[in-house]
Amino acid sequence: MGLFDGKVGVILGVANEYSIAWQIAKYLHAEGADLAFNHLPDKDERRRMERRVRRLVEPIGAKLIKPCDVSKDEDIQEFFTAVKDTYGKIDFMVHSIAFAPREDIQCPTLEASRNGFHIAMDISVYSLIATARAASALMESGGAILTMTYFGGERVVPGYNLMGVCKAALECAVRYLAYDLGPRNIRVNAISAGPMKTLAASAVGDFDQMLSLHRTIAPLGRNVAQEELGKAAAFLLSDLSSAVTGEVLHVDCGYNIMGAPGKSFKEFVDKLQAR
Ligand SMILES: NC(=O)c1ccc[n+]([C@@H]2O[C@H](COP(=O)([O-])OP(=O)(O)OC[C@H]3O[C@@H](n4cnc5c(N)ncnc54)[C@H](O)[C@@H]3O)[C@@H](O)[C@H]2O)c1
Repeated sequence: MGLFDGKVGVILGVANEYSIAWQIAKYLHAEGADLAFNHLPDKDERRRMERRVRRLVEPIGAKLIKPCDVSKDEDIQEFFTAVKDTYGKIDFMVHSIAFAPREDIQCPTLEASRNGFHIAMDISVYSLIATARAASALMESGGAILTMTYFGGERVVPGYNLMGVCKAALECAVRYLAYDLGPRNIRVNAISAGPMKTLAASAVGDFDQMLSLHRTIAPLGRNVAQEELGKAAAFLLSDLSSAVTGEVLHVDCGYNIMGAPGKSFKEFVDKLQAR
C-alpha cells in the first residue's frame, strides 16, 4: 500500500528529467499518487516543451498535461478549471517554479533592473500565491501545498543575487499562506534544497564549484540525492506531517547549520588553487 494511494495532486514545474518537480513526482507516483502536470506554453509548432514533459509523465499515467504560464492569470484559471473537470477535487500541489532574466541575476543585486525585479518576483513568488488560491479552491477536505526554496534567501550566497531576494519573499509568503489556509486544514510548507544540477541552476554562477563547496561544508559531507527531495516532499505532503505548516524544511545535508567551514575545507581550497 502506498502513502498516496487514492490521492490526487498537481505538479507545477517539470521542464525535463533533471527538474526537482520531476524527482518529487516520480516518488509520489511510486507511492500511489495520481498526478496532473503543467508545462510552459510552446511558442511554435514543434511543441518542444510539451513533448519533453509528455515523454516523462505519460508513462506514469498522467491524465492531465496542460500549458500554464504562471505569470498569466487566464492560464492559471484555465489550468485549474481543467484540473477540476478531470479530478473534481485535489489533495496537494507542488509549486517548483522560479525565473529571473539572466542579466538581472548574473549582475550584482545592486544593478538589478526594475523590470527584472518585477518579472522575478512575479514568476518566483506571486505565482505561489496565485496558484495556492486556485488549488486550495479544489481542496475540499484539507490539503497540502509545497514550494521549493534555497538557503540564498536566508543568507548571502554570492552568485544567487536577485533570486535570494525572491526566495526570502517566497519563504515569507509560505508563512502568510499557512496562516490564511490553516482554518481550512490546508498546510503550506517549503523545502530548502541543497544545490541540484538542473536547468534553472545553470543561471547561477559556477555550479560545479557550488556543489563542491556544499559537500565540503555540509556535516554529511555530500550533496543531496534527487530521491531525498522526493522523500522529504512525501513527508510534507502527507499525513505524516499533519501538524506541520508554515515551515521551511532544510534538505541540504545540514549545510545551513554551519557557521564556519570544517575540517575538509583546506582540501577544498588546495584543489581550487591547483585549478
Ligand atoms: N536546482 C537547485 O539547486 C535548487 C535548489 C533549491 C531550490 N531550487 C528551486 O527549485 C525550483 C525548481 O527548479 P529546478 O532547479 O528544478 O529547475 P527547473 O528549470 O527544472 O525548474 C524550473 C521550472 O520553472 C518553470 N517556469 C519558469 N517560468 C515559468 C512560468 N512563467 N510559468 C510556468 N512555469 C515556469 C520552468 O518551466 C521549469 O519547469 C525553483 O523554485 C528553484 O529555485 C532549486
